[in-house]
Amino acid sequence: MITIAIAKGRLQESALSLLARAGIRMSEDGLNSRRLALTDETGSYRFIFVKPADVPVYVEHGIADCGVVGRDVLLETRADLLLPLDLGIGRCRIVVAAADADALTKVQGMMRVATKYSQIASSHFGSRGIPVEIIQLSGSVELAPALGLADLIVDLVETGTTLRENGLIVVDEIAESTGRLVVNRASYQLKAEEVGRLIRDLELAM
Ligand code: PRP
Repeated sequence: MITIAIAKGRLQESALSLLARAGIRMSEDGLNSRRLALTDETGSYRFIFVKPADVPVYVEHGIADCGVVGRDVLLETRADLLLPLDLGIGRCRIVVAAADADALTKVQGMMRVATKYSQIASSHFGSRGIPVEIIQLSGSVELAPALGLADLIVDLVETGTTLRENGLIVVDEIAESTGRLVVNRASYQLKAEEVGRLIRDLELAM
């Protein structure tokens, strides 16, 4: 049996639809329950549903053989995983946003950047030689500029609605993100046949 860690939240629904198109289905009862571990109808796959940032942790430690998680999380955590497939789901951008188009040049002194993605933000500004103070938040990052906590934010944009409705605009783009299949290095060798089948089935379903 292969264990697959699925990131809960924005990617979960599209990941489950893609798996269903690949012939890997879970019972409706299971999906509608609060159970965090489910087996597929054939008994070949076990799914665990975990917070996005925990997917690389479970897969790197070999508790899960594979995972489905956004590139944003992978850039942030830099776990040692194999990335055989871009699943093309949950496409979004990691951006720098602010209340003003000229925010990057206007702020005097060190800019404060609020984000859930402190590693991505540090390396983005670091590589441009712009010194910033990173303010680590866990969510609702778009509130920070209006409330005076930060000058800029680094966050995900999908439709743009959250930025717009909180009076922010994109001032720079850092990276694109889509859902990826990640695989534990040892599982890729030891369960080569099963992992290979999963990759092929997902490729066909895409
Ligand atoms: C993400 C992101 C933005 C929002 C962007 O938050 O952090 O807040 O979605 O989507 P949009 O461009 O379609 O409006 P998420 O819902 O993942 O949760 P969070 O607020 O807890 O970070």
